Amino acid sequence: MSASTEHLQTAANRRRFLQWLAGSSAVALAGSGRLAEALEAPNRLPDPMTWAPRDLDYMIASPKDAINVFDFEPVMKRNVPPAHFGYMASGIDDEVTLRANREGFLKFQLRPRRLVDVSKVDMSIELFGQKYNSPIMIAPTGGHRAYHPDGEIATAQGAKTGNHGMILSTQTSTVVEDVIKVRGAPVWMQLYATNKFDVARQVVERAENAGCVAVAVTVDRSGGRNQETMARLRRIDPRTCSDCHAPNRLGGPMYDGIDMSGLSNLQSSAMSWDYLKRIRDATKMKCVIKGILTAEDAKVAADNGYDAIIVSNHGGRSDEAGRSTIDTLPEVIEAVGGRCPVLVDSGFRRGTDIVKALAMGATGIAIGRPYLWGLGAFGQEGVERVLELLRVELYAAMQQVGAPSIKALTPAMVKRA
Ligand code: GLV
Repeated sequence: MSASTEHLQTAANRRRFLQWLAGSSAVALAGSGRLAEALEAPNRLPDPMTWAPRDLDYMIASPKDAINVFDFEPVMKRNVPPAHFGYMASGIDDEVTLRANREGFLKFQLRPRRLVDVSKVDMSIELFGQKYNSPIMIAPTGGHRAYHPDGEIATAQGAKTGNHGMILSTQTSTVVEDVIKVRGAPVWMQLYATNKFDVARQVVERAENAGCVAVAVTVDRSGGRNQETMARLRRIDPRTCSDCHAPNRLGGPMYDGIDMSGLSNLQSSAMSWDYLKRIRDATKMKCVIKGILTAEDAKVAADNGYDAIIVSNHGGRSDEAGRSTIDTLPEVIEAVGGRCPVLVDSGFRRGTDIVKALAMGATGIAIGRPYLWGLGAFGQEGVERVLELLRVELYAAMQQVGAPSIKALTPAMVKRA
């Protein structure tokens, strides 16, 4: 049937339906102005019924009004310049990986155990000699001052309030010494190693001298990427980027004083296992590999004695493979076989997401965008509330599955749907 005959037929059906209506009791609706509504009425109510539809224009006025971490994102969007918001929100290309990270959690179900005393839940973990109140860590994200003038200082204070582990980005807008002072405990330093070993060595040396306990080498940014959301939002940003961003400056203040000549970006397109070994040999800090996504690479990392692995696709910002990290985690856990802790990030937004990863065997998880939403919305208080909401949800989720401690979360509690 052509589009035009289809249209005529639909119109005829509609006329017949109106003639029928005219002779039926439903015509009374017309008088009350509800005819259009009657014509649109679904023949079946949604199941489950939605009693509290989302008002997309509603924005929380204060962090305590938030009922979940998503409540912060529209407030951040309102507060932060479009180009900066776009940088944070962007995945790459069609953002398939970005969406997969969230959708991945739906593929797994929990198997709650009953008649376990969960009147008190201990969510604490110990990692590299540091004790944390929960396994929720701050993932490294760059340039926090782009979202709030207090930048990483607000983030570090938020992390301190809830005693969270923090991984500071080398692209930080606040130097590591100041962040550690505020956090009041060692942080981990993420590293964009570049292709020039001397640059990596100097950043690592500075982090170690500042008191960092670990270096997390990012291994998943080896090439270019097309951040379409950012590009589109930049078009509607009336400001001129070069008013704030020095056009020839490579990296933030952690690269200050380092000879960056010969480099056009911070990526490590030439990075190999040998290069990683040189970095490891250059420091006494624990050496963590961030960005592992296959059993094969996890096995090499564990065989070579790395101190921890972070399963990460960079929040859907480093590849468009379309695979979520929660899908990837089981094969990495199996390949590592308990030889080192495995952490995971990318897409974690709910206590149940965290429970699924921990039950699979992760030692900890890290969040990125959610605390940036809190930061951009309300500064330090926003970061604190985002972290608090996640802790509260995790606590409840552990009670729901019958796990009074992290070690009580076992693979039998999670099942692929
Ligand atoms: C930095 O880590 C980024 O993804 O832009």
